[in-house]
Parts: sequence; C-alpha cells; structure tokens
Amino acid sequence: MTSAHERWTPRFHLAPRRGWLNDPNGLCQFHGTYHVFYQADPTWPTPGKRGWGHFASRDLVRWEDLGEAIMPSIPEDADGAYSGSALVVAGGAPDGGDLLRLYYTGNVKYEGDHVHTGRDANQIMVTSEDGVSFSEKEVLLRPGDYPADLTRHVRDPKVWEQGGRYYMALGARRADDAGNVILYESADAVAWACRGRIESAHPFGYMWECPSVISLGGRDYLVVCPQGLPSEPTRWQNLYQAGYFPLPQGVLETTQVDEATFVELDWGFDFYAPQTFTDEGGRCILIGWMGIPDADYTSAPDGLAWCHCLTVPREVTVGADGLLRQWPVTEIDGLRGFAQPVSPAVGAILPHHHADIELAGIEGDLELGLDGRLGLSFSADDGLLRMAFRDEGAACGRTERLMPLERLRELRVLVDGSAVEIYVNHGEAVLSTRWFPTADTLLVTLHATCERARSWEMGGEAPSA
Ligand code: FRU
Repeated sequence: MTSAHERWTPRFHLAPRRGWLNDPNGLCQFHGTYHVFYQADPTWPTPGKRGWGHFASRDLVRWEDLGEAIMPSIPEDADGAYSGSALVVAGGAPDGGDLLRLYYTGNVKYEGDHVHTGRDANQIMVTSEDGVSFSEKEVLLRPGDYPADLTRHVRDPKVWEQGGRYYMALGARRADDAGNVILYESADAVAWACRGRIESAHPFGYMWECPSVISLGGRDYLVVCPQGLPSEPTRWQNLYQAGYFPLPQGVLETTQVDEATFVELDWGFDFYAPQTFTDEGGRCILIGWMGIPDADYTSAPDGLAWCHCLTVPREVTVGADGLLRQWPVTEIDGLRGFAQPVSPAVGAILPHHHADIELAGIEGDLELGLDGRLGLSFSADDGLLRMAFRDEGAACGRTERLMPLERLRELRVLVDGSAVEIYVNHGEAVLSTRWFPTADTLLVTLHATCERARSWEMGGEAPSA
C-alpha cells in the first residue's frame, strides 16, 4: 500500500514539495527555458507571507524546483509579493542580450478594513539576464498613481508589448463595488501613465483579479477573474470565476465589455487565476491554479505536506465559433507509457493514479466512473454533463458541477495523483478538480457507445531540487 502522500503527489502537474501554492505568475520562455513562477507560502500550514516560487524546464515536462525567486523584503511589499507577469525584452539587457522583466504587486496591510482603508498596492519590477538571479526591486506605481474612484484593491499587473509600446493591465475594485481593469501605457516598460479602463456595461462582480489579454486569430480576448457573481445551477458555480470576454475590437480600443459574452475557462471545482504566454514557437500556452481562494472544500487532507497544484500547460487555440479551445501541450503525450484498452461496457483497472484516458467517437449518453467515487455522466435528454462525487472522503467537500452540453463526442481524462483534468470534445470545455483517492489501483468504469476507448499509464516525476 502506498502512502497517501505518494498516491496524491502528481507526476506531471506542478506542485511544491512543501508549503502552499496559488496563482501561476511570470509565465514565459526565456533563452529557450520555460519559467513558471507561482504564489508561494513556504511556511504553510503556519501562515507566512506570499512570495514567488520558481520552477524551470526545457521541455514542459521535466521541471527543476529553483526555490524562492521573489520574497517580501522592502516596505512596499512588506505583506506579500503578490501575482504578476513576465515580459521578455529582446535586446533589452545592457550587453545587448535579452532581458526578463518581472512585474508584481507589493501588498502592504495596516489598520483598516483592507478594502477601503488599511491596504497599499504597489506595482514593482525586478529584472534578470539569466532567468535565475534577479535585480533590486524597483517600485513603479504607488497608491497615489491609481484613479481616485478605486478601493485599495489594485493588483496583478499583466504587461505586454504592442506596436512598439508597452501596456499594463491591473485588476481593480471600484469604490462602488464593480470590477474593473485599469490600463497603463509606457514607452520603456518602466515609467507608466494611466491610459484608461475597461469596465462592464453593468456591474459584473465587485472585483476583477488577474487580468490578461490573449491575442489569437486576429482577435483579442480579455481574461479576468470576477469575484462576487451569484452562483446559478449551470454557471458561476464556484465561489469566484475565471473566464474571458471575446472583444469585438482590439483591447486598446475597448473601454466597455458586454458581460453577457463572458465565457468560463473551466467548469470544474478547482481552477482560478490562469495566465497565458506565447512561447518561442509561437504557441499560446495557458496554466491555471487548480484551486480557488476561500473555497469551502479543502485540498489539504491529512498526509500532505503541500497544498494545491497547477494545471498542465494547455495550448490555447480558437475554434470555428471564435471561442477558445484548450488542449494539453503535445509534450504531455510524450509521458504516455503502456497502453491498455478500456471496455466501453465495463471499463478497466489501471495500476495507479497516473493515467491518460481517451474516448473517441462517443454516441449518445455516457457514464464514466473513477474508483466509484468521482462520476462523469452525460445525458442528451437534459443536455448536461455532470461531474459528481459519490464519496465524501475523496471529495473533501466537493459535490457536483453541471455543464450545458449539446453533444458529447470525445473525452480525454488526465488523472495524476490528486489532480484530474477532463477535456470535452477536444478542448471545447475543460473540467478540473482535485480528489483524494484511497486505493492503489485506478478503477475506471464505463458505460458508453464509443468507437475507441483506451488509456495510457503516465510517466513523469515531481520537480527535482
Ligand atoms: C488570486 C489572488 C491575486 C493576488 C494573489 C495573492 O488568487 O488573490 O489577486 O495577487 O492571489 O496570493
């Protein structure tokens, strides 16, 4: 019998060996190396201050754990080095080489309600010429630099270059409790001037965290994480959401978005604060946090020395309907080992909880079970895909999620210890969840009509130090 720790530790999802992880930060490819920074609290479960942890990889599957990259150390980030992004500036280094700039929010807390008073948000930059050592911190924006109608919540700088200028999007909460994105512009990516804001026609949540822009297929998509949307039976089922607005115009021409066009990026229990970047091969790659702030379910049952993981890197493309598709980067396929058929009438028993299960040519309704604890069912009659836990132990407080779906044709299920990602119809939709199985083998039950059903044992190993 393997220990809970071994069974729940993923092989190809990034998780810290110890301590807490939340948002992915500073995603980039720099000098060929992929960098994934993340919100880290290494002292967890004893609460400490958030900083940036750091993983690096040449191939998106074998990762090195480089420890702490940015930790609170100046008065302007005294209570946390919060989320932010990376900008690679070609030829930006003093010697003419490329320069990596990392932007983040320095969080400072003092006496007050921490919304309208008692909090400062400073936007701070560090630079690096090698991707592993970082310069002194430079404070770029301070509380006096933000529009006067905002609360003290202004954070998560996303910086990009467009037409020879630089732009920064910040997530913000207005004093009248409406989520906004504030846009800044700069000639050198260091000195910033406020350029305007993007808001929704009608209030859409009280705060928008972690803004980002995806430019694909000639169109811009504004990604935000709205807080404060009321849960409905088949949408906004998590406490906070992560999704995007497909923009009719370019992001720099946009001042207002139509909240009716908001599309959720993931339908599972555990997905938030996604970031994207364009790699050196031109792929748009998304990584999300497999967690949600303030959720009423846990991701840290007894036996784990770490809390939360990230999704696998997902390639983002645009479908014929103009909406985004997500699919595990092809490097993940390279981890496939022994293949085994899955019987459409019965299922299969797999040796462990690291598997890639693929069902193609599905006709009609379907029922798929993992260990008899986590069920996925589709009924064409009610047009719903249902992901439901049947066992409180494995769920740790998770219940069920419903997703409207006209037709189910394909499913790909990545199981990796305590992480599960379910890709529907080749990435039209994704459902991500954590679960905490107790058996050593993975029992897959299946009742479906499908042309092909097979699974692979998945290799991979936790990041090396
Ligand atoms: C999102 C978030 C960000 C913030 C970070 C702090 O999960 O709340 O807005 O920068 O986490 O860890």
